[in-house]
Amino acid sequence: MSQTHPLRVVVLISGSGSNLQALIDGQKQGELPVEIVAVISNRAAVRGLQRAEQAGIPALILDHTQYESREAFDEALQAQIDEYRPELVVLAGFMRILTPGFTRHYEGRMFNIHPSLLPKYQGLHTHQRVLDAGESEHGVTVHFVTPELDGGPPVIQARVPVLEGDTAETLAARVQQQEHSIYPLAVKWFAQGRLQMKSGKALLDNEPLGPQGYLMGTTQP
Ligand code: GAR
Repeated sequence: MSQTHPLRVVVLISGSGSNLQALIDGQKQGELPVEIVAVISNRAAVRGLQRAEQAGIPALILDHTQYESREAFDEALQAQIDEYRPELVVLAGFMRILTPGFTRHYEGRMFNIHPSLLPKYQGLHTHQRVLDAGESEHGVTVHFVTPELDGGPPVIQARVPVLEGDTAETLAARVQQQEHSIYPLAVKWFAQGRLQMKSGKALLDNEPLGPQGYLMGTTQP
């Protein structure tokens, strides 16, 4: 189902917000039929908040350290998000483990981006772990969020080669380049009504995507 108004999107961040910037740029250039209606960070004074302010987007801080439990924080976050009536919630470097109640509330309308070829390397420090394991390829996955950490159905996956002499930093930079093209693409498909989650599967144009989602990028030289 395509829609006539721009899709209302809330973006959650914890840090630099380079993926947020890719979405802001896509919106500004008219490539993404979305309106980013708010950016919420669980950390104060991060670059991503500046990026939102520079783009004229409401930028809010909800400091998780001020809440006595994960549940209390997620309830407050949900209330804050829902004031903006988003049709899609985008986790863009939001470094929090989410409660099942929160993830269920946004089921089918919340994306995350994770810097690995899921289901490999869930969790943190993915670039270093890939190097330590001697892998020849690495990448990034956009997926629908479900209660299982980094476990929801993949939407798009992009691969990059691991090169001789790579450090976690050089590898992260190569992965991030892919992030900045696949995240806007996933958001665009969703905004166009082409992408949905049904019975735990991601569907593109009503066809189930494979276990790694739509595949992009190449590790061939
Ligand atoms: C991105 O590389 C994203 O893949 C990662 O955090 C970074 C945020 O960068 N996310 C995770 O590790 C989630 N588990 P950004 O703030 O510049 O968009």
